[in-house]
Amino acid sequence: MNRELLDLLICPFSKSSLTLDTFEAKDDEVEYGMLHSEAGDFPIVAGIPILLWGKTDLLALVRAGKHQEALTMALIGKAPDQGVGQINKYLQETTWFSTLGTWLEEKRQRTWERKAEEQFFPKDGGPVDAHRFFDLGLGTYHMKKPSFVNYNYYRFGCPSYLVALSFVEAMGTPKGLVLDVGCGAGHVIWAIQQRMAPQPTIGIDYSFFSLYMARTRVAPHAWLICGDATALPFHQGVFAGVFSSDAFYFIPNKWGALKEIERVLMESGTIMLTGLRNKLAAHKPVGNPLTPQGYQKLVGHLSSRIIPDSHTVHRYLDGYGVPAAEQVDEATLDESFAVSIWAGKRNMEFADMGRFEQWPHALGELAVNPLYMTGPSNDAGTVYLRRYPLDAYTNINPQVKSYLPELFRLTKPQAGLIHQNCTKGLEELLERWAVLGLPPGYLH
Ligand SMILES: C[S@@+](CC[C@H](N)C(=O)[O-])C[C@H]1O[C@@H](n2cnc3c(N)ncnc32)[C@H](O)[C@@H]1O
Repeated sequence: MNRELLDLLICPFSKSSLTLDTFEAKDDEVEYGMLHSEAGDFPIVAGIPILLWGKTDLLALVRAGKHQEALTMALIGKAPDQGVGQINKYLQETTWFSTLGTWLEEKRQRTWERKAEEQFFPKDGGPVDAHRFFDLGLGTYHMKKPSFVNYNYYRFGCPSYLVALSFVEAMGTPKGLVLDVGCGAGHVIWAIQQRMAPQPTIGIDYSFFSLYMARTRVAPHAWLICGDATALPFHQGVFAGVFSSDAFYFIPNKWGALKEIERVLMESGTIMLTGLRNKLAAHKPVGNPLTPQGYQKLVGHLSSRIIPDSHTVHRYLDGYGVPAAEQVDEATLDESFAVSIWAGKRNMEFADMGRFEQWPHALGELAVNPLYMTGPSNDAGTVYLRRYPLDAYTNINPQVKSYLPELFRLTKPQAGLIHQNCTKGLEELLERWAVLGLPPGYLH
């Protein structure tokens, strides 16, 4: 945690100021420590302040200097209360075997943490790569759903990421800080950051695991906070822009989250809420979506524009930014899979954004889109084949097929251009998202 972040922060539960105790620092960043407010103490683990309620186990580990244990617990939480855990719980509740039950349960927790620690941080090898880390965290220890792994690892190729990039371009470089609410593993923060640097971009999410991925693999220069969108731990009016991509529709208390976003936003600030799933669209409901009219009502007191994401995707693929001039009719909105909102507290005029000077997705370290696997190779080059890791990925990203070629050949000179990070000569592959810019080291 950068010490300057403290100037922005307040306690989310009492709105009082915070003081910092540093236990371990690296290159001027606080790695482990504690934040104190009138209402409570909050741990800092691996450079990420955790401003959530009830983290007593983590606080105890950080206080005791057991930093690696604190990190593992923050990443995976406690072992699930199933099987042996239930037997231990039963024993703990009896009169005669309570001590035995507690001992057995503590042993079970320690075994679970030690096993996780060995997998996340193997002693005999380098750091595990992004795919394996997502797989462990989201596939093995958290949601146990491969679709979450795929969403995160292949995020840079998703249409909803393309929509987010379009809005990031539209926001430009506001005069002041930008906050990403529900930033997840930091894919969009990374895009914002590249435009805002050297100014830091701030991200908040209640998933520590995702934030750790952001800090270590995706957006290492961002200032990240583990906290809840409905109780933002920031002073009033500190942000020039608040962004939220693919996250706002998950939040049940949308009014609470929006009020918080407005509180931390400057009067002249911009709000971008992208990838808002439409409750009316024919798909399995995910999160807590509203109808497009519901979203419009929610932001009715603001100056706003609501835009179907499919329109933004089409325009992006033609090389143009967000189509914001026209207010889209109700029937079209109702048929949209997802919509996005551009809003502000001041009176705003909305216009179509113009032609991109360069592809927004070309910023970064050029690489073959990870959605492709390597096929046959010969003197003419290497063939890459589009893969869909899971049906779920294709279903939530139906437009993927409209731009990613099924297969393509990467010639040796083109491979050389990728290596030199040179976009000239790769225009066709960039246009189809076969090649794109990634955070340095993302694939290794
Ligand atoms: C689908 S992910 C999107 C991540 C990222 N914004 C992106 O576009 O790649 C949704 C994120 O919202 C976060 N989230 C949902 N509800 C939240 C809340 N009330 N407070 C903080 N984060 C929340 C989740 O933890 C998750 O990381």
